[in-house]
Amino acid sequence: MVIIKLINKKKKKGYHNTNIHKNMSKNIVVVGSCMIDFTSYVSRLPKPGETLAGNDFKRAFGGKGANQCVAAAKLGASTTLVASLGSDVFGEEYLQSLKSLNVDTKYIKLRRDIHSGIAQITVAESGENSIVIIPGANALLTPNDVDDAYDLIKNAAVLLTQFETPLDTTLQALKLHKGHGISIVNGAPAVVNVDLEILKNCDIFCVNETEAEVMTAIQPLTLFNGQEALTKFFEIGCNTVIITLGSAGAIFATRTNPTMIHIPVESVIPVDTTGAGDAFLGALAYFLVYYPNLSLEEQISRACQVATRSVLKIGTQSSFPTKEELSDEIFSY
Ligand code: RIB
Repeated sequence: MVIIKLINKKKKKGYHNTNIHKNMSKNIVVVGSCMIDFTSYVSRLPKPGETLAGNDFKRAFGGKGANQCVAAAKLGASTTLVASLGSDVFGEEYLQSLKSLNVDTKYIKLRRDIHSGIAQITVAESGENSIVIIPGANALLTPNDVDDAYDLIKNAAVLLTQFETPLDTTLQALKLHKGHGISIVNGAPAVVNVDLEILKNCDIFCVNETEAEVMTAIQPLTLFNGQEALTKFFEIGCNTVIITLGSAGAIFATRTNPTMIHIPVESVIPVDTTGAGDAFLGALAYFLVYYPNLSLEEQISRACQVATRSVLKIGTQSSFPTKEELSDEIFSY
């Protein structure tokens, strides 16, 4: 009896699954950022004006767009990144790294006379982080660049974008993709007065609790007032909304089923939460495309499990699990 109930929960029709057709490509296209991450590891985050001695330092490839693309690729998805890098040594190195991870880099442009995007990250022993980004070449990703990738974007099973590249470019990508597959906008980093056309033109809008607080002015955002935040997002035009809540899991609702559903996660002791949201989004895109018969609730739950695994290792892309590193249960029907 218990087994039958479980299977029914997994197979309950998702809200967007009808947008993924049998004959469609299984490609996930990410229009987004690439950053070079300079990360310092310290006992705790410094206070304003304070100098702290750290324990370690690492340089790695990051940026929310590339991270999400890599998270999906490491699970075995077919992925293409539309992005913009600088003409410095990092740009070329980053391209090679993406290729080695099986990401299609045909639509990544190397710009002259500008540096690649930079992220300065501080990670505390608690796993918390703070990030400052300097967009560099990411600021040059224009609507023309997405027009150049018109066929690719139109045929994407999932289009995934964030707020680290110009928002007119994001909107153009959403317009090209409309009516073809599923679009996800990750509203990160938070933008106060976002163009509402972006929210209306995407199928799924996903933010973490801090970004949701900035956009809804509900503070602090917890499980208890999550419904209020979701309702506010529907009022400004969102369709399906997911809010990730760190160790409290995620909540979501859709315009047609607006009652909040909570998805809990396993409790773990994190070593580095940087990029956990990106692991979640890349994995969500993967489950939407490759497991379209699962309910949206189940797809989100599995993406949460992938994100939970990522906080057990330091770094962003290096912390994302491959298919082989995860339990078979996550890939079962
Ligand atoms: O989400 C984590 C990412 O945010 C980092 O890789 C950094 O580049 C910033 O964009």
